[in-house]
Amino acid sequence: MTDKINDLLRRVAEFSPRTAADVEEFRIRILGKKGELNALMEEFKSVAPELKRELGQQLNKLKSAALERINALREEAQAAAADSAATLDDPTRPGTAAALGTRHPISLVRNQIVEVFARLGYTVAEGPEIEDDWHVFSALNFPPEHPARDMQDTFFIEKNPDVLLRTHTSSIQVRTMTQQKPPIRVICPGRVFRNEAISYRAHCIFHQIEGLYVDEGVTFADLKQSLLYFAREVFGETARIRMRPSYFPFTEPSAEVDVSCNLCGGKGCNVCKGTGWLEIMGCGMVDPNVLESCGIDSKKYSGFAFGMGIERIAMLKYGVKDLRLYFENDVRFLRQFESAL
Ligand code: PHE
Repeated sequence: MTDKINDLLRRVAEFSPRTAADVEEFRIRILGKKGELNALMEEFKSVAPELKRELGQQLNKLKSAALERINALREEAQAAAADSAATLDDPTRPGTAAALGTRHPISLVRNQIVEVFARLGYTVAEGPEIEDDWHVFSALNFPPEHPARDMQDTFFIEKNPDVLLRTHTSSIQVRTMTQQKPPIRVICPGRVFRNEAISYRAHCIFHQIEGLYVDEGVTFADLKQSLLYFAREVFGETARIRMRPSYFPFTEPSAEVDVSCNLCGGKGCNVCKGTGWLEIMGCGMVDPNVLESCGIDSKKYSGFAFGMGIERIAMLKYGVKDLRLYFENDVRFLRQFESAL
């Protein structure tokens, strides 16, 4: 009799109905007046008294297991039926829209910047994130042991100081100049790495986009006009720019570029710290040493370069106050960019 009880227990557990009618049929077969459970109860009456206690417990267990399972299956079948009645029986009901994904704000801004420069004839160039010293520093006129290398808080791969994570995407410009002949017009987006403490305004991983134009007779005026065009496209028609002298080993002269604060219109607010200006990028005329390192005749050609952090541009454009939001991928943050292009 134990075998019969166990067999029935197994069948109850394994039963998988397709419709509510299947469940009902199964219920009658097992729990109905003339069902299998009652047949077992009948048989129970005539077992030896010393077995009654044990078998009685088994039968009770079987009964409650069967009741529980059948009730659960019945509910499931009813819910499924209600569902299909709602969707299938009324073909005029509007469909359920598939949830749309959103582009990450960093991608949105990168795409926009690439697109703006594409209109000026720039093409996208990419390069490896793991680089060697030459492409990141030496070819860019960083002398060995020069303190400017410290400005960039480099991550080295293992103990080999020649293998490192690029600290800026200028390495892509070096790769381009060694592989192509002028005229060169490239825009270089990519992820860069610096050993910095993570805070609301700094991260050890961020994104840059740099540009390079090398040709005969390229001047600082060309640089300024190109960046003004960029600023107006990204920050709006009324945007103005100003340039302040600066220093980079790979450009001479070098400048820091500010754009008029788009939040207060230049009057001064807490984002621009009352100055009316926001710093957005570094730029300058490519140092002749850099052109020569890359095999370009610096007597014949000149060029300009510029570079900016995509996170920074996105923060200013969208009013995001904490850089870490870009890396946490909290969908409540990301969903806010749903309607952006
Ligand atoms: N590579 C510089 C940086 O990462 C930015 C830059 C690019 C400055 C090109 C001038 C010209 O800080």
